[in-house]
Amino acid sequence: MASSYSFVFLHVLVIFCLAHTAFSDLSDDFYDDICPQALPTIRRVVEDAISQERRMGTSLLRLHFHDCFVNGCDASIPLDQTATIDSEKTALANNNSARGFEVIDRIKSEVDKVCGRPVISCADILAVAACDSVVALHGPTWEVELGRRDSTTASRTIADNDIPTPFRDLSTLVDNFKKQGLDEEDLVALSGAHT
Ligand SMILES: *[C@@H]1O[C@H](CO)[C@@H](O)[C@H](O)[C@H]1NC(C)=O
Repeated sequence: MASSYSFVFLHVLVIFCLAHTAFSDLSDDFYDDICPQALPTIRRVVEDAISQERRMGTSLLRLHFHDCFVNGCDASIPLDQTATIDSEKTALANNNSARGFEVIDRIKSEVDKVCGRPVISCADILAVAACDSVVALHGPTWEVELGRRDSTTASRTIADNDIPTPFRDLSTLVDNFKKQGLDEEDLVALSGAHT
């Protein structure tokens, strides 16, 4: 448990950095008028998933940050391989370890149902689910900026190059994080999301 407390604390800084480097016209009240039930529905599904399997909280956090490392937080990570999509799911850092996609799918379908139409992006779901997960695991909360658009492309090449793996040496890891506007503290914090 000690490691999960340290990562949740430091992750606040991480989200702040990611949100502010990649996006400028997002807002935390994006869904307030469009569908006030959207965010409570995400929280309910996340809490339910974590009550069934506690580890899912860290998996959802990891999914979000692995998504953000490839061209920003744009929900490229859930895209499956097609003729035109170079799926990130099989990248070294994700293959057989990225998990929680079924929770994201369930959130998407329940939010669409409660809203009566597909208003929410998967990128926003990933971002909110990561925050809700940390809160559900008794970490702090933070403001999640919303209104992201979903990517229609993915890049396994960038995922392979930029998402850190345990096989890299420290200076490479530090460089990988620096490219995302993240520092050594963030590195330590997010490494905790694997435990
Ligand atoms: C991903 O994992 C599967 C199953 O273990 C394996 O067959 C496949 O070769 C892996 N893909 C890559 C790109 O490493």
